[in-house]
Amino acid sequence: MSTKSTNILGIETSCDESAMAIFSSEHGLLAHHLHSQVELHKPYGGVVPELASRDHVRKMVPLLRNLLDKANLKANDIDGVAYTAGPGLLGALLVGAAFARSLAFGWGVPSIGIHHLEAHLLAVMLEDKKPKFPFVALLVSGGHTLLLQVESIGNYHILGETLDDAAGEAFDKTARLLELPYATGAEISKIASQVSKHPYHFPRPMIDRPGLDFSFSGLKTFTRNTWQKSDQSTQTKAEIACAFEEAVADTLAIKCRRALEKTGYDSLVVAGGVAANQHLRKQLQEMTDSLNAEIFFPRHEFCTDNGAMVAYTGYQRLLTDKADALDISVRARWPLATATTEKP
Ligand code: KG4
Ligand code: ZN
Repeated sequence: MSTKSTNILGIETSCDESAMAIFSSEHGLLAHHLHSQVELHKPYGGVVPELASRDHVRKMVPLLRNLLDKANLKANDIDGVAYTAGPGLLGALLVGAAFARSLAFGWGVPSIGIHHLEAHLLAVMLEDKKPKFPFVALLVSGGHTLLLQVESIGNYHILGETLDDAAGEAFDKTARLLELPYATGAEISKIASQVSKHPYHFPRPMIDRPGLDFSFSGLKTFTRNTWQKSDQSTQTKAEIACAFEEAVADTLAIKCRRALEKTGYDSLVVAGGVAANQHLRKQLQEMTDSLNAEIFFPRHEFCTDNGAMVAYTGYQRLLTDKADALDISVRARWPLATATTEKP
């Protein structure tokens, strides 16, 4: 790659967002664009993989056209193409991978498959306030809940993880059982903010045990039982949402504190869709303040899935690695520890 400005296109299609962005070595993020499939999947109460793939196919070319216009670039200004190669929905991943590889082949530039969780982790590097290595990271998304010791880019050691549901999954399932119109964590948060107190004490799972693993399925069951035994009024729904959100945030904060104490590090990065949760952000901010540690978050729109994190991670990878061969392969499952050592 040239030492002058290098522009990397990033393509994200691992689940239900079609997203693209261009990261420039000289100017940072030039443009990003996202099409959400929320409306498409809403009637089914969850993401339908086949519909997700088909919609990604429909959106790839218009998204790229729009993105190049926004960045005021032409196709021949792009120096490399990065795409999410896993983990995620196989069909959805294949759409992004096939599109990315074909563009790279047509344009005669390198392409590289990116680990989705590594991209989430590095999204914070697009902010003005960014951490220095090493740091502890809490990665909380719809499919994963991980506590990581991050030594440098590509050097990720897992300190703890969920033994059952991911934090985002617990939010989504709780939203469904409370019959919210959109079964998402953001909806739980919205109704929880309508109340300032509640009469419940929800469990903080696994905090009495040593270690840094999580478990959220018991909390989900507790929430369901509490809801079923309640008067099921709108007020009660908001109070239960609030108690649930507090329990998740508290549990995550307790484990993050332990991880900072265990490693002796003084920086915490929080990433993934659940990092958009205001209550969690506040709780973690208070915890790090009490330890004299610093906390770093991506901006809200880069907590959830986006193309910018893929473009940035692709830029980092193409600086250090060779581009992948042009065959198209993706992985539904892919351990983060092997993000840079194993190809998709
Ligand atoms: O990182 P992400 O966009 O996709 C995955 O890689 O999974 O995360 C999506 C998850 C969903 O479970 C969603 O409910 C949750 O993040 N989420 C939230 C909030 N916004 C998104 N959870 C709690 N509060 C929010 N404000
Ligand atoms: Zn994600």
